[in-house]
Amino acid sequence: MSTVDAVDLGRRRFLTATATVVGGVGVAFVAVPFLKSWSPSERARAAGAPVEADISKLEEGAQITVEWRGKPVWLLKRTKQMLEDLPTLNSQLVDPNSETASQQPKYAQNPYRSIKPETLVLVGICTHLGCSPIFRPDIAPPDLGPAWKGGYYCPCHGSRFDLAGRVYKDVPAPTNLEVPSYRYLSDSRVLIGVDPETA
Ligand code: FES
Repeated sequence: MSTVDAVDLGRRRFLTATATVVGGVGVAFVAVPFLKSWSPSERARAAGAPVEADISKLEEGAQITVEWRGKPVWLLKRTKQMLEDLPTLNSQLVDPNSETASQQPKYAQNPYRSIKPETLVLVGICTHLGCSPIFRPDIAPPDLGPAWKGGYYCPCHGSRFDLAGRVYKDVPAPTNLEVPSYRYLSDSRVLIGVDPETA
């Protein structure tokens, strides 16, 4: 598979996954259709305007996807077990302490890579060649092995990430998935694309 094919495949997977999630969970922004007839506000959003996500109906263990700057952004509500599993994975990871500054804002450089531990906000683009990884929260599935404690699997070349978006060793992706800038407007509303207001 060529690089272009791989990226196209990843984008198709993103669109399919987004449409599925919209139907199942409900989300603040519908990703389709990508048409030329966007309104000015839609064009502004595609160019980088902040995007608001409603997480009021997000249940533990579930994830929704919104689009920001033409990219999928995932919002995952992690369970207590998911949070407890994170530190047990550190020895298997390339950058367990999120020391690569480009991959998250300073306020997300913590063990959870998030402002609130339970809610992960992540750009859903593989740091290898740009496919969109698949959300695999299942524990020890046959195709991912007995040590798998939930995470993201990239179908293009097999990169693996944990449920904080931290990349495993010995896969093609060089860095952790990116945490975008974001802030909370309320407990149930997240604005993606802006930093928290400084005090
Ligand atoms: S794009 Fe190559 S592993 Fe994800």
